[in-house]
Amino acid sequence: MASLISSLSSTISRLTLLRKPSLHFPVKTLRKFEVDRKRRGPISPFLHVSTNYDFAHFSSCPKAKSMNALGQDEELVVLGIETSCDDTAAAVVRSNGEILSQVVSSQADLLVRYGGVAPKMAEEAHSLVIDQVVQEALDKAKVTEEDLSAVAVTIGPGLSLCLRVGVRKARKVAGTYALPIVGVHHMEAHALVARLVERELQFPFIALLISGGHNLLILARDVGHYIQLGTTIDDAIGEAYDKTAKWLGLDMRKSGGPAVEELAREGDENFVKFKVPMKQHKDCNFSYAGLKTQVRLAIESKNIDASIPIASASSEDRRARADIAASFQRVAVLHLEEKCERAVEWAMKMEPSIKHLVVSGGVASNQYVRSRLNKIVEKHALQLVCPPPSLCTDNDRSKILLKKEATL
Ligand code: KG4
Ligand code: ZN
Repeated sequence: MASLISSLSSTISRLTLLRKPSLHFPVKTLRKFEVDRKRRGPISPFLHVSTNYDFAHFSSCPKAKSMNALGQDEELVVLGIETSCDDTAAAVVRSNGEILSQVVSSQADLLVRYGGVAPKMAEEAHSLVIDQVVQEALDKAKVTEEDLSAVAVTIGPGLSLCLRVGVRKARKVAGTYALPIVGVHHMEAHALVARLVERELQFPFIALLISGGHNLLILARDVGHYIQLGTTIDDAIGEAYDKTAKWLGLDMRKSGGPAVEELAREGDENFVKFKVPMKQHKDCNFSYAGLKTQVRLAIESKNIDASIPIASASSEDRRARADIAASFQRVAVLHLEEKCERAVEWAMKMEPSIKHLVVSGGVASNQYVRSRLNKIVEKHALQLVCPPPSLCTDNDRSKILLKKEATL
């Protein structure tokens, strides 16, 4: 769900930006933006997607024109649609940050049945519920399509079959009610959601984005203007948490990360001496594939049987699993700390006015991660901005389960 709310936050930033007098001619603006971008140097690959407004549609739609005429205080009401993976979600947010409604329809039953996301099945499931989910979001927010200022929709990364369902719906609503559409990039949304929770947060800032599929360190200079300082060369930290949880036989219902975090509290973090990845690389990139292998080998050497759920393990067995979980977490996060510290140094040289480090994405809900990164910001006299867990992760499982129960 967070990714949807974050998408809306980034959408509002964009719409607000577009309403500035100097940006009244979107196509011209885009060209100017491209020129500026070339002058300013390397930009994250995700910029190319994140600036992907539907400009033609935006400039030709009457609502966009009337928005250009609005004063800066005028409030926008944006409908967001997200279908990038296995959940169909819609929400309505005001430009003052107020979340008017959030609705998620989960495909958890399909996940269990197929042992993962099956794109064709997921597409069908999205198509079945999308109209209902959007209507419910509008009803809960007590608005109609006519009250909307724009429609935001996730355009990637994600499963293209699934993304298409959301984009089709967004186009339908926007087309019928003459609204602008804003395409939103998932990772940009994770970074910009911090602006929803921390009103003091100004550009430029550093963002560490840690999720199941991405590990990014960026310098955010403005909406749509990012410099990528580092990325993962193989797996992301969330993937390492998920595999560790699976191999340790943990309960994956809330995803692997929270299960490892919880078990790690019981363990000795120095019990297994895992090697910290990429020590010799003086850059801001990450690698978690090697650590995953180290964890797998440690689990095998302790003869831990993942088919025995942790709840049924003997106390000795449970202790061994907890020690591995804690040792993994210490090194996984140490890797984050080391790269993050270097990124702070690099970014501060480029932009000495930086005051904030934003940490977002599913793994940012981890308390151990937060406390370790807090030490880095203290050392550099920065402030840590961590959206609450419900806004860090894409889907708040407990909310989804509640919703499922309510609809059964
Ligand atoms: O951002 P997100 O919800 O979805 C993606 O964009 O991937 O991140 C999901 C990832 C999963 O790998 C999940 O295990 C991890 O975030 N995660 C955590 C925690 N909560 C979620 N990892 C560590 N500790 C947590 N408390
Ligand atoms: Zn995410």
